[in-house]
Amino acid sequence: MNAPALEVHLDADDLARTLRADVIAGLTADRKWLPPKWFYDARGSELFEKITELREYYPTRAERQILADHAPEIARRTRARALLELGAGYSTKTRLLLDALTGQGTLEKFVPMDVSPTALEAAAVRIAADYPGLRIHNIVGDMTRHLKHLPDGGDRLVAFLGGTIGNLIPAERAEFLADIRSVLEPGEHLLLGTDLVKSPRVVVPAYDDEDGVTAEFNRNVLRVLNSSLGADFDLDGFAHVALWDADQEWIEMRLRARWPMRVSIPGVGLTVDFAAGEEVRTEVSAKFRRDGVERELAEAGFALDHWWTDRDGLFAVSLARAV
Ligand code: AVJ
Repeated sequence: MNAPALEVHLDADDLARTLRADVIAGLTADRKWLPPKWFYDARGSELFEKITELREYYPTRAERQILADHAPEIARRTRARALLELGAGYSTKTRLLLDALTGQGTLEKFVPMDVSPTALEAAAVRIAADYPGLRIHNIVGDMTRHLKHLPDGGDRLVAFLGGTIGNLIPAERAEFLADIRSVLEPGEHLLLGTDLVKSPRVVVPAYDDEDGVTAEFNRNVLRVLNSSLGADFDLDGFAHVALWDADQEWIEMRLRARWPMRVSIPGVGLTVDFAAGEEVRTEVSAKFRRDGVERELAEAGFALDHWWTDRDGLFAVSLARAV
């Protein structure tokens, strides 16, 4: 069997440093915030998996349906020899692409990039078993910093799925898309998943489910700060807030202090005060329209070649070509 390669650009020290810098920047700001990437320790990743199965959370199902319906066409249009997946785990979505691309006979190499070496290695074992002959090259890295380490080689398809691009604010998005473009040659492809603008009656419950799984997921970031920085956040003191910002067309998740609190965070030498009702922004999840996606792609040097939505028009997958 082919032994999957593991290339590491991000180690535990590096992660810990980044966490400390983010916590200092976010919790000393006038309007407090924390970046969403710190949701995803083992417990947070499990909670996210649970979210994808919730009745209210449509994006995963919608995107899976698009890929189930169109993966063969994506394979035909790209004829990709390498699939580079950003923020990859081993979802059914990845498998749909791998099936179509190996079925067509073009695919030689699968290159998932993720911050979690354990997630990558667990996935690689299964992929190696299921796709004999496929070369697997795992890259442990932060996709906002380590894209330059993606292997070159031509006929590459970069996949960035799940609507995760929506977790970046517009300026970060522009920079990130330009970074992706800069590692590609003209004619190579980007497959991008984006959640679509729709009624807040549909989108808000997806981020504020009845069972409170998303609330737990949101509060998990405080648990991460407690365990990795020795902080003493009282999770019961923070209420989950999900609101639709109609101007920005994004969902904003926040944690709202139910009463005044003083929290100590020894790992960064901070004491942070919260007034009753004060909020910490923990995530934005932008929703898109075709025009906007096309424009942002064009600004980064991509032409939108194809746009697919699910039957209910909830989610879109774009195939873009580097120009
Ligand atoms: C799939 C990572 C993009 O923004 O919908 C789910 C994360 N946050 N519920 C999203 C998430 C709250 C999610 N991403």
